[in-house]
Amino acid sequence: VHFASDNTSGVAPPILDALVAAASGYAPAYGDDELTLALDDRFGELFEHEVRVFPVVSGTAANSLALSVLTPPWGLMLCHEQAHVYVDEAGAPEHFTRGARLVALPGAAGKIDLEALRVVAARGGHGVHTSDPSALTLTQATELGTVYTPDEVAARAAIAHEHGLGVHMDGARFANAVASLGCTPADLTWRSGVDLLSFGATKNGAMGAEAVVVFDLDRVGDLERNRKRAGHLLSKMRYASAQLHAYIADGLWLQLAAHANGLAADLSSGLAGVDGVEVATPTEANEVFAFMPDELIGALEAKGAAFYVERVGDRPAVRLVVSWSSTPDDVEAFLAAARSGA
Ligand SMILES: Cc1ncc(COP(=O)(O)O)c(C=O)c1O
Repeated sequence: VHFASDNTSGVAPPILDALVAAASGYAPAYGDDELTLALDDRFGELFEHEVRVFPVVSGTAANSLALSVLTPPWGLMLCHEQAHVYVDEAGAPEHFTRGARLVALPGAAGKIDLEALRVVAARGGHGVHTSDPSALTLTQATELGTVYTPDEVAARAAIAHEHGLGVHMDGARFANAVASLGCTPADLTWRSGVDLLSFGATKNGAMGAEAVVVFDLDRVGDLERNRKRAGHLLSKMRYASAQLHAYIADGLWLQLAAHANGLAADLSSGLAGVDGVEVATPTEANEVFAFMPDELIGALEAKGAAFYVERVGDRPAVRLVVSWSSTPDDVEAFLAAARSGA
């Protein structure tokens, strides 16, 4: 069973159909095609807000480009200590912001601690000498499989704005968070104080499409030019855009995410009943974190189960990522193996 990452899943059929439909004929290049030009209005409807949408092909690019317009090169970008931007992007945010620094903050269950944020956001202020806090980035769903509620986002965004920081959300698993909370995309973003969102689609059924969605239009800045300089102004942009349209059409994105979340919940409750296994963080999206004896981890791996071992607090924990294409049989097979000691 494939619980290593939702990145290992394939392409959802309606998205593949949309790619095939867009595959013939000619269209203007570099985003001047009809599909791309329609994205601002379409996402504007979805988010109930005027937006600018910038498709890119990776989450790292979306995050780095979003941050590139939130911070000067001498700024500080505050993130959780386990944030993807901090531990899994090889310094790309620093690179694309021309030197701004990521500052890692603690916080239980993947969520930035409010007090730590309050203290660090207020730092700086020694004129030319200091690196001033300039941006806050929140991951939604978090790297530990939990989700920030709209109130939790708003509490952090309020501190950021009070100190003049822009607010970015890394929504690589934004669909899973929205499906989990049952709120609107607007509630979880601009209504809670988010200025820019990295809107993920690849993990949840697209072939390779993400988008920077800008809510605070005053912050578009050099995004267009920075995207070109980063190599993400695609000549055949219509294929990224076709994926994004299909992804949000008829609620597909939320259906796929709800499926993954539901199976993750089943996996989590099943594992909670297995001797020696302890669910390590609340399962609120499509990832399950569990403490397990080393022998059981080894036995599951030997049986061919694919997963990573990460950390929750100071303990190693198995990370199981359920995707839109996972099946109840996958969950059952994993649970049966875990119950039998594999
Ligand atoms: C929280 C988070 N953000 C962003 C990304 C996007 O990364 P990539 O650049 O590999 O598309 C990932 C992918 O694993 C992720 O887990």
